[in-house]
Amino acid sequence: MCLIVSDDNKSCLTRDAHLSKICLEILTHLTYFNNQAQIYYFLNGIGINRLVKLVSLFWLNVLYLQKLKLCSMKKRALITGVTGQDGAYLSEYLLSKNYEVHGIKRRASSFNTERIDHIYQDPHMQDRDFILHYGDLTDSMNITSVIQEVQPDEIYNLAAMSHVKVSFDTPEYTANADGLGTLRILEAVRLLGLTRKTRIYQASTSELYGLVQEIPQSERTPFYPRSPYAVAKLYGYWITVNYREAYGMHASNGILFNHESPIRGETFVTRKITMALSRIALGMQDLLYLGNMSSRRDWGHAKDYIRAMHLILQQEKPDDYVIATGVTTSIRDFVRMAGTYIGLEVSFEGTGPEEKGYISDLDEKVFTSRIGEASLELVREKVQRHKAIVAVDPQYFRPTEVDLLQGNPEKARKVLGWQPEYDLSALVADMMESDILLMKKEHFLQEGGYRIKSYLE
Ligand code: NAP
Ligand code: GDD
Repeated sequence: MCLIVSDDNKSCLTRDAHLSKICLEILTHLTYFNNQAQIYYFLNGIGINRLVKLVSLFWLNVLYLQKLKLCSMKKRALITGVTGQDGAYLSEYLLSKNYEVHGIKRRASSFNTERIDHIYQDPHMQDRDFILHYGDLTDSMNITSVIQEVQPDEIYNLAAMSHVKVSFDTPEYTANADGLGTLRILEAVRLLGLTRKTRIYQASTSELYGLVQEIPQSERTPFYPRSPYAVAKLYGYWITVNYREAYGMHASNGILFNHESPIRGETFVTRKITMALSRIALGMQDLLYLGNMSSRRDWGHAKDYIRAMHLILQQEKPDDYVIATGVTTSIRDFVRMAGTYIGLEVSFEGTGPEEKGYISDLDEKVFTSRIGEASLELVREKVQRHKAIVAVDPQYFRPTEVDLLQGNPEKARKVLGWQPEYDLSALVADMMESDILLMKKEHFLQEGGYRIKSYLE
């Protein structure tokens, strides 16, 4: 007697015609069985001899276990840094791909889940597919116990103290969270015996190239980190490579160049600019203070970049990939592009700390269509009086700067089939549109006598 059940549980072959008939019937009914007792009653109901009943029972158990496996075949992902820009977009994306998503969030004295509130699921809900755990990358025991509880198929390590300038103020903490934090995850997976099951994505960064040794930068370009953040991430990069080579783990680095979005942290330069120009246009702010406007970045949209993270973990072999657009733009030009979106031509005069930005021309049609008429007169006056709207504040200079980043995403294109959907002007439009709405809301609240946030950091 022989019975073969295929992997996908759809076909079943047996040389015994009688048993074959029964098995077919069983397969038809499989979805109705919720426990093994039901299988037994089912067999009793179809009156067969004892031997066949025993054999059938055995195979039914196999099928039942397969059914359980099939039911729980949702992939399970664990995202550290789930409350951040990338964590939020990645959670949405994985949920849309039918994953069960677990996220690690830090305990804070006030809610820090604004970016994921729209997908939050109440813990009392049955069959949740978005589950949050308290945790911190600086706490090995916490990380190990969350991984043990979740038993993830994929871990996306996105948590980090991610602000380059702030890393000069908190270098030890940055090393602990961004460098050792990565080690804690890799080691937990190894110690828990999940090496074969769990794939790991490490959020590496173009900051590793720092004082760039080559333009554009690819996976083969040597690293030269220029901040405590980048040095901590360098450790994260190499420990990921080392665990891959030493223990055969499916651990990969995504070397992501700057990626932005309407939910980008407010103190990163792009968001600072799109928020400030929206406020200036609405008459809520006079001056935008920036640091080094000559540095250049390869900016993409975070929505495109989280797709790349997922693709990296779907590859049969782990590897490291540069994710970038290949286009580099200065901070000054980003200001100009954001201005153009609302009909302001911004020009710069002076050099170094004395440099200032002015509205040199105003397209009233574009301005009123995007902003409205209420603040038009105010902006006209800024043009006429040649009032600066951008100035330099040296407090934003960094002790060591990364002057130019430009990535070469060729390998990602070829191997992953990854291609960004947004170019820089589409990114600027998305961010400006969202910040104009936000600032109009805040303007309305302010007019009504409510206190609003100050974004001048
Ligand atoms: P982000 O918005 O700053 O988010 C960082 C996340 O990490 C937040 O959820 C934060 O929690 C969490 N976090 C910080 N320290 C933690 C700790 N000790 N334990 C647990 N969680 C902690 O950063 P992002 O832009 O989404 O970037 C995601 C990752 O990619 C980061 O590792 C970043 O360094 C890296 N990266 C980013 C870019 C980019 O351009 N965006 C480029 C290359 C690499 P709170 O919300 O509580 O602060
Ligand atoms: N934040 C900020 N604020 N940056 C300014 C300002 C300012 O007022 N003025 C000029 N800049 C310059 C910085 O000196 C830097 O050269 C550039 O703008 C970009 O700064 P950020 O937006 O803070 O990003 P970053 O490039 O330092 O770091 C981001 O990208 C990395 C990937 O290359 C972060 O997301 C990192 O976590 C990420 O690894």
